[in-house]
Amino acid sequence: MRVVTVMNYKGGVGKTTLTANLGAVAANRGFRVLLLDLDPQTNLTFSFFSVDNWHDQLKDNRTIKQWYGAELPGRDVALADLIVTPERANSVLKNTGGQLDLISSHLGLIDIDLELAARLGGTTTLDGSKRKFLDLHSCLRGALDDSRFSDYDLILIDCAPNFGLVTKTAIVASEQILVPAKADYLSTLGLDYLAGNCAVLVQQFNDYANHKRGTGDYSPIDPSFLGVVFTMVQIYSQQVTLAQHTYIEEVRLNSRVPVLDSKIRNSPRHFGDAGESGVPAMLRATGKDEVVKEFDQLADEVLGALALPSGDHQ
Ligand SMILES: Nc1ncnc2c1ncn2[C@@H]1O[C@H](COP(=O)(O)OP(=O)(O)OP(=O)(O)O)[C@@H](O)[C@H]1O
Ligand SMILES: [Mg+2]
Repeated sequence: MRVVTVMNYKGGVGKTTLTANLGAVAANRGFRVLLLDLDPQTNLTFSFFSVDNWHDQLKDNRTIKQWYGAELPGRDVALADLIVTPERANSVLKNTGGQLDLISSHLGLIDIDLELAARLGGTTTLDGSKRKFLDLHSCLRGALDDSRFSDYDLILIDCAPNFGLVTKTAIVASEQILVPAKADYLSTLGLDYLAGNCAVLVQQFNDYANHKRGTGDYSPIDPSFLGVVFTMVQIYSQQVTLAQHTYIEEVRLNSRVPVLDSKIRNSPRHFGDAGESGVPAMLRATGKDEVVKEFDQLADEVLGALALPSGDHQ
């Protein structure tokens, strides 16, 4: 089981689209994939379920809100009990041996995120506040220890465009971080800041974990950056436009976050429907067009880096 968080502070850079479609390509290769929607915007969830179905079947007792919303996350419901298998997407995966499951989100998660952060305060002793920090930040990591998750080859976590406590629990639970970004000034500006904040979180967690060694089960964490994936890239005459090429090279040369070779081009034709069909674009595609090839290359690169080589399950 490999756990990868898909994140960027910047909104609208293609995180959710990438999570759904990378998961879809991996599942289509025969892997068992779980997608975890940690964004209160619930876009990943609505890429698989209609709003009506979500209301009828998931909203009240089958979303991540129930899990994070307990006094301590997970006290009221086991995370694995929230797993659902979206029908429309999985009907396309018949005969592949793959699976694409989901833990869905809820708009109310936004309030819970703030409440969780508030709970970090209010402890008077240093020891108590360190323990609270460790307990809260490692809640998702602990929950993924459940044997029901070890059946999955890959868990992809889609985050909100922020660095709130819920996002931090995803980083603590992950081995790798994937950063979709647009090739423009504002999107590339925040990448080092993001890397810096992740490093601070990891260091603080590990400092506290070392201090608490022997009193709890807090092993150190070491999530690393799989890299930046440029998305919505403008291609003319089969080339990345000069302006975008310049931004990509700038990040490749100067950023502390590595840049993946794969890129995903701008293609409203593939990604314009905002998930209405319930089937990710890469599972709807009939031929090997350029975008399908790009997602294939991305899957090769990501699964290869995770030592989940393509071919194993095909
Ligand atoms: N390669 C692409 N080509 C064209 N449109 C795309 C592409 N990738 C994503 N989009 C579209 O861009 C919009 C934003 O994408 P998406 O929701 O995946 O971004 P996000 O980073 O998850 O956003 P948020 O920060 O709000 O969660 C969506 O309408 C999506 O359909
Ligand atoms: Mg999103």
